[in-house]
Amino acid sequence: MKTLDDLQCEGKTVIVRVDINAPVTDGVAEDSPRFKEAAETVKELANRKARVVILAHQGRAGDADFIPLKQHADLLSKQARKRVKYVDDLFGSKALAEIAKLKDGKILLLENVRFYAEETLDVPPEKLAKTLFVSTLASRAQAFVNDAFSAAHRSQASLTGFPELLPSYAGRAMAREYAAISKVASAMERPVVFVLGGAKPDDCFKLLKYAADNNKADYLLTSGVIGELCLIAEGKDLGAKRVWLEEKGYTKILPELEALIKKHGAQIKTPVDFAYKDSDGIRAETESAAGAPVFDIGSRTAKAYAEIIKRSRAVYFKGPVGAYEQPQFELGTRIVLKAIESSHAFSLMGGGHTLSAIEKFGINRKKIGHISTAGGAVVAFLSGERLPAVDALEKSAQKEY
Ligand code: 3PG
Repeated sequence: MKTLDDLQCEGKTVIVRVDINAPVTDGVAEDSPRFKEAAETVKELANRKARVVILAHQGRAGDADFIPLKQHADLLSKQARKRVKYVDDLFGSKALAEIAKLKDGKILLLENVRFYAEETLDVPPEKLAKTLFVSTLASRAQAFVNDAFSAAHRSQASLTGFPELLPSYAGRAMAREYAAISKVASAMERPVVFVLGGAKPDDCFKLLKYAADNNKADYLLTSGVIGELCLIAEGKDLGAKRVWLEEKGYTKILPELEALIKKHGAQIKTPVDFAYKDSDGIRAETESAAGAPVFDIGSRTAKAYAEIIKRSRAVYFKGPVGAYEQPQFELGTRIVLKAIESSHAFSLMGGGHTLSAIEKFGINRKKIGHISTAGGAVVAFLSGERLPAVDALEKSAQKEY
């Protein structure tokens, strides 16, 4: 990959894809460490007198965190200590007028790329490059920088379309993260434990399957949505919760999950108790996930997972095991993170929510082997997959434009 060291950017319009996808509570975007990472590249380009046009996504269509990027501009400005102007448009006349006005060293953040259907078209990069979104913006720029390592496992228009049309470079975070992850993934000693949680079961399932089938981990500790799916696959009754999982399309993995659990049940651990909100909004625990909505693993599960972590030599923590943002549901994530911090195991952690949780619980970063801004991208990498956005940068380095 070419990096910022290879880019002559003074006076050029540079499109920079960052990942500032942040935890959102009640419509408010949190100041996650991803802003700091993104600010480094943005600031460097602005200091080197580029005209910086930033692209980013937030959330997924239909989810509560699928919001505009207005707040993100303020959070990025704060970290970069430079004004980041926001425009609520991506490639329409408003956005193009702002790009045309941009002066050397100035920074513009365009609208959430996922508000536009072309971003998530399921077609190869050559076709993504032909979308109105990519072709219009590329015609206004001279270079593309991808600093969104944590979205590198997605082949979406803003990630793999531009390198087809513009000389492309890895941003500072992208280059650093890719180097680190390549190094650590090969250095994991047994017993290896994967802690799989969060709200994205597709990523967790991919890793669970790869790790179990290829003997890459000794224990797979499940929680969150993947934990619930594993419980169903074990034959537990999740009542109305199952309907919600079905509506979300998550249950389609169940036949494969059932087969996996039959074969590797001893390695795949599921929660034995759960926390929910009682009628007064206070944390209560139960042994069944079938009743009220579950917001955290219960204390028995948390302690059992902590014990397994203590005996391990390497731990990969994919995401919080509960809704740690709410004080009454932080217990599970805090116990698991503290167990990782105090163990002698080499640890690898990642994901936007993970970074926020590490800060919230005051986890000593020096006790963690590598902290990545990426969740799904690390999962894809650990699952033996290629990262399309990295491939696109590598291909660009060989290409004449
Ligand atoms: C993440 O938060 O893991 C990245 O921003 C990618 O988000 P996605 O899983 O919605 O593509």
